[in-house]
Amino acid sequence: MTSKPHAQNFPRSGDLLLEQDLIFPPGFWWGTASSAHQTEGDNTNNQWWQFEQQPGAVRQGDRSGLACDGWRNAEQDFDRMAALGLNAHRLSVEWSRIEPRPNEFDHTAIDRYRAMLDALRTRGIRPMVCFHHFTDPLWFYKRGGWEQAESPARFQRFVSKTAAALGDLCDWWLTMNEPLVNVAQGWFQGIWPPQSRNPVRAMRVYRHLLKAHGAAYHAIHAVQPDAEVSYAKAVRLFHGLRPNHPGDRYAAGLRRYLYEHVWFMATVDGKIRPPVGAPDFDPLLADSFDFTAINYYTHYLVRCTPNPLALFGKDLYSADGEYSDYGRNGPYSEYYPQGLAQICREVSAFGKPILITENGLPDRDDDLRPRWLLGHLAALHRAIADGCDVRGYFHWTLVDNFEWSEGWGLRFGLIELDPETQARRLRPSAALYGQIARANGITVDLLTCDGA
Ligand code: BGC
Repeated sequence: MTSKPHAQNFPRSGDLLLEQDLIFPPGFWWGTASSAHQTEGDNTNNQWWQFEQQPGAVRQGDRSGLACDGWRNAEQDFDRMAALGLNAHRLSVEWSRIEPRPNEFDHTAIDRYRAMLDALRTRGIRPMVCFHHFTDPLWFYKRGGWEQAESPARFQRFVSKTAAALGDLCDWWLTMNEPLVNVAQGWFQGIWPPQSRNPVRAMRVYRHLLKAHGAAYHAIHAVQPDAEVSYAKAVRLFHGLRPNHPGDRYAAGLRRYLYEHVWFMATVDGKIRPPVGAPDFDPLLADSFDFTAINYYTHYLVRCTPNPLALFGKDLYSADGEYSDYGRNGPYSEYYPQGLAQICREVSAFGKPILITENGLPDRDDDLRPRWLLGHLAALHRAIADGCDVRGYFHWTLVDNFEWSEGWGLRFGLIELDPETQARRLRPSAALYGQIARANGITVDLLTCDGA
């Protein structure tokens, strides 16, 4: 692991010096984000569970197993959110539980989700529900998953039934999480199922995910006209490593074009741009989001390479940065809070309210997380002061959970979990985040007193 230069001199504030309180707009949403497969446990009927059984698929052979035991006990973590003073929570529903076989819907599973949503609301926590967070039911996956032309219609059927069944308890929805992370990991880099490294298949999946989003957006509004609906979009800032090097600039620009511009613009004007479309026009995609939902972790400095499968570049970090437990070679690592403000300014052009639907870091010993929280929230406050209409922030995540192909090695939780015993222990940043939520901002007092 890379050494962390901040560790020796970290008081709570790091380098954040405040002369006055940074108070957020009234009614700001303070939440945490999670996903079904990473927290529920025993999600045996999806492609990830199957993938985890393959030797070498997940680091150290880890498996999701019982995860955070949320299918049986999510309410106990909802109590912890309420005790911290949080007023929002983002979770996902597991398609393979709700529709375990094609067009067969499991009412016991729906009732369990109804109980969870009700439990959140009873605790004063507004739920936001996401319909797809990387996992596909095995029946869908085995029929070709997102590569099939029928995939958008299959997804739409699931979303429509589920939105109707949960709609009296939730009106805040995400059709899907980070579609481009799914495409990149599963079809470009081949490290997630289906472990493909094929740009043609990747573009087909990209197109189908776009169409699935458009279809789902309208399906939700058809059963709940006043719903607020979007998709959670990962935005990574890419800059050329050598600012004047044309190759580095090209590779950085290509990433932003393909990962962000093509997706965002399709949901603005309905046009699916090359190389994803011919271009094509899908009327269901035009103006298909009610708020802009951003997942932000870090920035990258791109150095050009001749490898088309790597989009002609390698993603690096600043040489003298501060890094999470991923170190210098992992994704999501460098502390770069100003990127969050930059993205808010960029997406303000869409003219929609903005929600930060994920932000966080792996930090087992919690020595960077408090500073990360303060730095990112101060940047967010700056963006709001500059006129960005930001309505809420969801920290990833409340409790350590199953980190996909990284298994249990990386700990993103405000609360530490022992997956064997299910014992939980609050990290110091849990108390800090609770204080911020209760104060609706970062106060000078919070930085000068010893907290907790
Ligand atoms: C994903 C989460 C993941 C987190 C940390 C996000 O991209 O939505 O599922 O756990 O990043 O890697």
